[in-house]
Amino acid sequence: MASKILLSLLVLAAVSPAALAAFDVIQMLVDKPQYAGFSKVLEQTKVAGEANQLKAASLLVVPEKTVKSLVALPADKLRQAVANHVLLSYFDPIKLDEMKTRTALLPTLLSNTDKALGVLNYSKADDGQMYFGAPGAPCVAKLVKVVAARPYTVSIMEISEPILLPLGSGKPDAAPGRRGKGGKGKIKPAGLDESSEVTGKTDDAAGKAESPESAAAAPSPAS
Ligand SMILES: *[C@@H]1O[C@H](CO)[C@@H](O)[C@H](O)[C@H]1NC(C)=O
Repeated sequence: MASKILLSLLVLAAVSPAALAAFDVIQMLVDKPQYAGFSKVLEQTKVAGEANQLKAASLLVVPEKTVKSLVALPADKLRQAVANHVLLSYFDPIKLDEMKTRTALLPTLLSNTDKALGVLNYSKADDGQMYFGAPGAPCVAKLVKVVAARPYTVSIMEISEPILLPLGSGKPDAAPGRRGKGGKGKIKPAGLDESSEVTGKTDDAAGKAESPESAAAAPSPAS
């Protein structure tokens, strides 16, 4: 009898990895009703549990008013899309700003199961605003603010809208200079001239950073 109880305790411990994880993304969002919809799909798709296993992570969350297009996805697409909102390293606006290039492809949790799809395109506009998008599609999800951060382990940042995988995905059209098909009439932010100077301004992103040195040292932008 006693051994049976012990066994069930062991099983319990094995199936609740959150107890061993360094952070719990659901817990970090628990007192933030403005992200309740996103938090729910994080849990429902079990992406939260996977994120909690990471050594470092950055979660991109969307507010209630734009979460609908994500929640409306069928289960398999939903899991993929939600996993694609978890970056595999710690980022905050300062760290993003310190990058030597204005645009970068950042791997997400989805890359564990789908190398080609599991990546986000980060880019910084002339006015210093930071955007994320699926590769091959315009970067339209704007970095709004830092919701929570524990440097350099985990951060949660709000973006303006969900990043959806390119339509008919499986084979994203990531060839440089080509736009993904199946656009939804979204417009590329104007003025993304890659050769112009980095301003370092991040107006409403929390954590302002001026880094003229990194701008001066920036090599020609990637791809
Ligand atoms: C990443 O986004 C920038 C800005 O929208 C764009 O110029 C660049 O082509 C994109 N890269 C990829 C691989 O989609």
